[in-house]
Amino acid sequence: MFKFKNYQMKLIQPKDLDSYYYFGFHDISEETRYFTGTTEQFTKGQIESYILKISEDTTRYDFLISEGDEIVGEAVLSDINGKNCHFRIAIFNKRNFSGGIGFSATKILLDFAFDDLDLEVVELEVFPFNERGIALYSKLGFNLVDQIIDDEAEDPYREILIMRLNKENHVHG
Ligand SMILES: CC(C)(COP(=O)(O)OP(=O)(O)OC[C@H]1O[C@@H](n2cnc3c(N)ncnc32)[C@H](O)[C@@H]1OP(=O)(O)O)[C@@H](O)C(=O)NCCC(=O)NCCS
Repeated sequence: MFKFKNYQMKLIQPKDLDSYYYFGFHDISEETRYFTGTTEQFTKGQIESYILKISEDTTRYDFLISEGDEIVGEAVLSDINGKNCHFRIAIFNKRNFSGGIGFSATKILLDFAFDDLDLEVVELEVFPFNERGIALYSKLGFNLVDQIIDDEAEDPYREILIMRLNKENHVHG
């Protein structure tokens, strides 16, 4: 478990289903769905199966970010493969945007990835119109390394930026 200010970061568990479903799929802002490219709706049964699957997957760490009883977001290291991994984060409700949660939670997981898991590269995907996301990742040392087109996606989700942070460019602590 990690802590910053009044927030806690804990690995998701099956017992989190009700509250994760409420905050992550019911109370979620349209803005978060837009910036994460989420167009589908999910049933509670689907999310239950998803939590069971990811909580047993040894190639990933799915952290819930909470303040008291509210789950404010999630931050995930996935596809851990030798020296590389993928990162993603979502703050669920726009009332919690731009208050420093994203910065602190990302910093903590980058320390975890590079110091504890001894990884060398963390990569992420971000849509070009996500200025807040790009600003956060740039501030943490991520560089733009590629720009891909997803032929199967529809506008505005066809163009995806790949950003990468190498261990030597990570500012620890
Ligand atoms: C992107 C996201 C993780 C950022 O987290 P946050 O807690 O909202 O952002 P922070 O307060 O930590 O801000 C980090 C930096 O982003 C930039 N930023 C903040 N608000 C911004 C805005 N409205 N426009 C542009 N940049 C902004 C600033 O550079 C800020 O650093 P500063 O406080 O030193 O100026 C969060 O807003 C979020 O989850 N949004 C919806 C889903 C999403 O976009 N996920 C990422 C998908 S790749």
